[in-house]
Amino acid sequence: MAANGQYALKANAEGGHAERDKRAELDREARVIAELDRLAAISSGYLVGAGHWEAGRWLALTWAPGAPMWNALAPARRDAGPDTRRLLITCARSMASAGAALHTTGWAHADIQPTNTLVTEDGTATLIDYALACGPVTPGRPDLETGRVPYRGALTHTTAPEIAQAVLDTSETEHIPVTAASDVWALGASLFWCWTGRRPVPYHEPNGPRQGKLRDIAEGVTHDLALVRPWPFPAFEEALMACLHPDPHKRPTSGELAALLEGMAP
Ligand SMILES: Nc1ncnc2c1ncn2[C@@H]1O[C@H](COP(=O)(O)OP(=O)(O)OP(=O)(O)O)[C@@H](O)[C@H]1O
Ligand SMILES: [Mg+2]
Repeated sequence: MAANGQYALKANAEGGHAERDKRAELDREARVIAELDRLAAISSGYLVGAGHWEAGRWLALTWAPGAPMWNALAPARRDAGPDTRRLLITCARSMASAGAALHTTGWAHADIQPTNTLVTEDGTATLIDYALACGPVTPGRPDLETGRVPYRGALTHTTAPEIAQAVLDTSETEHIPVTAASDVWALGASLFWCWTGRRPVPYHEPNGPRQGKLRDIAEGVTHDLALVRPWPFPAFEEALMACLHPDPHKRPTSGELAALLEGMAP
């Protein structure tokens, strides 16, 4: 383990998660992060160490700077101006670049959402939490799948329409593999939410059961961004809504999105 630096320690809670094998999940997350490092899909050395403690498992990760995306983008919910436009562009671009690095290897994060995105004051975002990441079938590496819970969507509000539909159409034990395009929808949904203060999909029953929300998401309808955004930013709005296209094949790839944002004027 490296001797200097700041680390985040992730461990299972003693006696917690009786319904899930959190130790096996943490074991798998360590293997996944090591594989993503080997593929250069995440920043090198992100996994500092992993091991056992008396009640389970721990992972030590390189500390990602910044605040959760919701807090970091608070200025953009208030004021228009070059600084907040730059903040939004930088945040979206760094999320898209992180997505592109993963997606070119065939992996998807599968849980892009505001609490899994840490953002610095200048907008630089780091994606964290690889517990649910979905990879391609890797010959000789069944261990990259062993220990995972079947994927049934992560946070409801950042679940892409095609994933919502698949959850509704399949039994609870069936694993739904996530692809890059669903990550792009989640990225757009996170930006929509943290910029406008509104989750992207209007729910018939905002306090109702998850199934109903998944049905609403699967319809592919979102709030009209022009009616809920705090101030206009046409080029950014267009990029954001492209990510939320109901048809996964019509969304930009994360690489295309990163390139688009790279050239966007604040
Ligand atoms: N590398 C990191 N740098 C800084 N903070 C981190 C890092 N990893 C995790 N955290 C903090 O710890 C919180 C929880 O971590 P993480 O999102 O990985 O796990 P989780 O969502 O609790 O668990 P699960 O694996 O069940 O999804 C994050 O929201 C973040 O605040
Ligand atoms: Mg998390």
